[in-house]
Amino acid sequence: MRRDLSELTPREIVAELDRYIIGQVGAKKAVAIALRNRVRRQRLPDELRDEVAPKNIIMIGPTGVGKTEIARRLSKLTGAPFIKVEATKYTEVGYVGRDVESMVRDLVSVAVALVKEELQEGVREEAEKRTEEQLLDLLLPGVSGQQRTRDVSPGTSAPATPDDQQPTVPAESGTREKFRQRLREGKLEDKEVEIQVTKSQFPAIEIFSGSSFEEMDLNLGSLGSLLGGKKKRKRTTVRSARETIMQEEMEKLVDQDRVSEIARERAEQSGIIFIDEIDKIAAKEQRGGVDVSREGVQRDILPIVEGCRVNTKFGMVDTSHILFIAAGAFHMSKPSDLIPELQGRFPLRVELEALGEDDFRQILTKPQNALIRQYTELLATEGVSLDFRDEAIAEISRIAAEVNSKTENIGARRLHTVLELLLEEVSFEATELQGQTIPITKDYVRERLAGVVEDQDLSRYIL
Ligand SMILES: Nc1ncnc2c1ncn2[C@@H]1O[C@H](COP(=O)(O)OP(=O)(O)OP(=O)(O)O)[C@@H](O)[C@H]1O
Ligand SMILES: [Mg+2]
Repeated sequence: MRRDLSELTPREIVAELDRYIIGQVGAKKAVAIALRNRVRRQRLPDELRDEVAPKNIIMIGPTGVGKTEIARRLSKLTGAPFIKVEATKYTEVGYVGRDVESMVRDLVSVAVALVKEELQEGVREEAEKRTEEQLLDLLLPGVSGQQRTRDVSPGTSAPATPDDQQPTVPAESGTREKFRQRLREGKLEDKEVEIQVTKSQFPAIEIFSGSSFEEMDLNLGSLGSLLGGKKKRKRTTVRSARETIMQEEMEKLVDQDRVSEIARERAEQSGIIFIDEIDKIAAKEQRGGVDVSREGVQRDILPIVEGCRVNTKFGMVDTSHILFIAAGAFHMSKPSDLIPELQGRFPLRVELEALGEDDFRQILTKPQNALIRQYTELLATEGVSLDFRDEAIAEISRIAAEVNSKTENIGARRLHTVLELLLEEVSFEATELQGQTIPITKDYVRERLAGVVEDQDLSRYIL
């Protein structure tokens, strides 16, 4: 569900996030305020607006407590262009310092898709009209403008349904109207027509080794359409032809330059880039090799977060007002291991708390996509109904928390492994249990999971 961001108050943003994420109030609030601040900034007079920089956020917390989940939900919630990247992606050999700007290009591409969709909505009616005319042209070749009498050559229109007679085209202009009528009634959907499709062909990437795909795309934007854009004739049904034609017409009716312009503006003013796993590029001490490359990545990210201009295939984009949210577990490193300049670019720090038994109980049942619901629905498709008792849910939570404390704390991800094990048998036998209700009681849970808690090795096994 997407809503206009400017309608949402920070409280409402938090409330929306609450529907999926348990606890982590601090992080939710920080994100909500940062989002709202951008709306506020938009309302400032020009000269002040440029001065207000977004307050970038860094989310710190152990693994599996909801960092990525908050970002994921945020993107669904706001209509703002949003992308999530993994900082580690930029450390790979050969990519250091090369491709960091691609996050901005990706963001603009997302914005372009958003804007295109919006603008296309406005021309849908016109496109539908044009598509209908084109379909009629295809169905009635020869009677498009001036009406001529001739048989439809067998190559252009084939009989589809047996009760359809071979369409011969009389001279009356009424024919077109009759066909229009039948088309609208959906009676010609399976009829075959021949359409021209443009096949976009990507030139071989290997030739331009060293440059990334989007750089190449950027350089060859116009060349690409010269090389590619091969037209091909294709026989297909009216149903699928309509889709193709509609798509083409919408493309034609929406001014691409305007799309780029609005999209650039949208990305600059309300874009959000979520940099996940940022702790993985924090280097503790200089040990050469990998660490150097990590620090290199940090240095490359700096100007982008600070505000610079990036060349994209849709034009220059200024990153000064893009909101950056970084997240990391910081198990092996601390935020202070990041180079100071970069730390300074993320003034807001929020910590997410480790999750305990109580949180687990809620995570299992409360969110819209709660795990218990997921499993119940999955098995319901086989005609098996699971009856989870409260006592069982409490026991699952207790066991998950216990395993987390005895072995590695993997946060809410533990619930996935525990539930999977708990329901292994039922999942396996489901097809034979059709029509049955399976009560999941505390005893059932204990019985199924007893081994896990006692046997350390086994608990490790289900990590
Ligand atoms: N507070 C929470 N409320 C509801 N579900 C949660 C919560 N925390 C984690 N989960 C669930 O646990 C899983 C892992 O969470 P998530 O991907 O957000 O972890 P993370 O904090 O990004 O960890 P990592 O540091 O390993 O990337 C997801 O399926 C998510 O739905
Ligand atoms: Mg994560």
